[in-house]
Amino acid sequence: IRTRVAIVGAGPAGLFLSHLLAGAGIESIVIDNRTREQIETTIRAGILEQGTVEVLDSIGEHSRARTVGHRHDGIELRFAGAGHRIDFQKHVGRSVWLYPQHEVLKDLLAARTAAGQDIRFGVTADHVEGADTATPVVFATDAEGQPLEIEADFVVGADGSRSVVRAAVTGSSTGGYFREYPFAWFGILCEAPPSADELIYSNSPDGFALISQRSDTVQRMYFQCDPEADPAALSEEQLWEELQKRVPGTTLKEGHIFQRDILRFRSFVAHELRHGRAALVGDAAHTVPPTGAKGMNLAIADVLVLNKALQALLLEGDERLLDEYAEVASQRIWKAQHFSWWMTSMLHVAPDASDFDRRRQLGELRTVVESEAGQTYLAEAYTGWPLAVGL
Ligand code: DHB
Repeated sequence: IRTRVAIVGAGPAGLFLSHLLAGAGIESIVIDNRTREQIETTIRAGILEQGTVEVLDSIGEHSRARTVGHRHDGIELRFAGAGHRIDFQKHVGRSVWLYPQHEVLKDLLAARTAAGQDIRFGVTADHVEGADTATPVVFATDAEGQPLEIEADFVVGADGSRSVVRAAVTGSSTGGYFREYPFAWFGILCEAPPSADELIYSNSPDGFALISQRSDTVQRMYFQCDPEADPAALSEEQLWEELQKRVPGTTLKEGHIFQRDILRFRSFVAHELRHGRAALVGDAAHTVPPTGAKGMNLAIADVLVLNKALQALLLEGDERLLDEYAEVASQRIWKAQHFSWWMTSMLHVAPDASDFDRRRQLGELRTVVESEAGQTYLAEAYTGWPLAVGL
């Protein structure tokens, strides 16, 4: 089959790109190896930058971020037994929205389906050929196990951290700048009311915890754990004990824990983001550790940049913006890499941390919360830097 833009991956990046391209009259096909139900129910990130909410407004009534989501005007940084509020509105006049990624996906899928977008679920991309030609091809296998070839003017890898498009862009499936962390997050979902009005990022001698939320009745919480931890090994009672001791000075509202998972911590940026007629966006291009909630927001920012470049290429035959894609996207990517690494290193306790490291870390936290500049930096980064390219 033939299309103008073949988009591999029906996550936030791929679906949002199909929406923007359609708005410019550019037809695309989106494929994903998962079912629609899997996409709509997998629990992922939870925080949208203000700029992300603003651009998602472009999908119209289907976007429920402002109606179902909750605006948050700050977070609490907790350490040495005391909480310190970072007031986003006061420092940068901006906010974030607590709105789970799978809800964003439901909205995008509803909007794209209503617009007649060709989205094919259960289709597994195998590899891409011809990125150096004017007609790159995605070789895939459809839901019935039959081969499917999609010939396009351009191929976009929005296919996540295990991207198969990446090899056509970087020459290998792994090539990139990479960092591992010696800890992970143990994530839970529980049936309980919120323990606080805003999210709590807590540093404690026992490690980090994040007290997040999902709704009035369901809460999301994480605590620092060993990357090899077995999510089934602890009882509910033990999990509450682990969480409570990481937020000294706060009493968490407990309830039945109905889901648990382990989140790996990695920083990754592919060596190349574009090669010929193929480009990477979102997790296919980069991974950030979750602290600071930059992942999905960064994916949307990449898409805004690539969208304009593809419009120039496909509507006017102008390659100049495409030639700038990697450089423009990289600037935000590396700022987000730094912020995510910084929040992670400032709040977690490394397994080999010395007494010096521990005290230096408390000094760093105090530097941030006692400084207008420090609070402003955190607020600016957390709520999202201005977008380089708009709708
Ligand atoms: C959530 C995840 C994050 O990484 C974060 O920084 C804030 C919130 C969440 O899943 O709710």
